[in-house]
Amino acid sequence: MQGKYKETWRALEHLYSEKRVRSIGVSNFLVHHLKDLLSDCQTIPMINQVEFHPRLFQPTLLDFCRSESIQMEAWSPIMRGKVMEISQLVSIGEKYGKSPVQITLRWDLQQRVVTIPKSAKQHRIIANADIFDFELSADEMALIDQLDRGERVGPDPDNFNF
Ligand SMILES: NC(=O)c1ccc[n+]([C@@H]2O[C@H](COP(=O)([O-])OP(=O)(O)OC[C@H]3O[C@@H](n4cnc5c(N)ncnc54)[C@H](OP(=O)(O)O)[C@@H]3O)[C@@H](O)[C@H]2O)c1
Repeated sequence: MQGKYKETWRALEHLYSEKRVRSIGVSNFLVHHLKDLLSDCQTIPMINQVEFHPRLFQPTLLDFCRSESIQMEAWSPIMRGKVMEISQLVSIGEKYGKSPVQITLRWDLQQRVVTIPKSAKQHRIIANADIFDFELSADEMALIDQLDRGERVGPDPDNFNF
């Protein structure tokens, strides 16, 4: 994998230098993968798409991406619906008239993390976008940060055969 992603990255850099793609990025890269790539690349990835949600906050990875101007993007941002069961998110949501999913997606935005929740249902797609009429307080942001348990709903990038 370590050898493979550098070769792949060089191909993406080539496409970028030829202006055949507007931006290039990586997915499921942890800090050590990024450091390894950054030590040996010409173009820094513009985005890193990783599993990211209140039960998998990864502040070290987030800080590292921010320091290198790599945009973080959250996949499975609502834990495939499981954030609905987190009582602290239910409580915060009651204050704003929002669901735990909407609170989670608002937390992403205020963390400056691009978020890509998926739904096949029109009413959920509309509800998931209805997060621009309220703002979480600093205390609420900190409370959500503390829900982290290092819990994944998808594969662990360090223990997966990509
Ligand atoms: N780069 C990677 O390795 C990687 C890995 C996994 C996923 N992804 C990408 O990340 C995106 C999202 O990830 P994901 O689909 O795994 O997880 P997700 O967005 O956290 O959850 C999607 C699930 O949540 C349900 N849902 C959506 N809105 C809801 C709401 N308001 N209330 C309750 N349930 C709701 C959906 O069901 P309904 O459709 O029934 O609404 C669907 O089953 C996908 O586009 C996927 O391609 C990338």
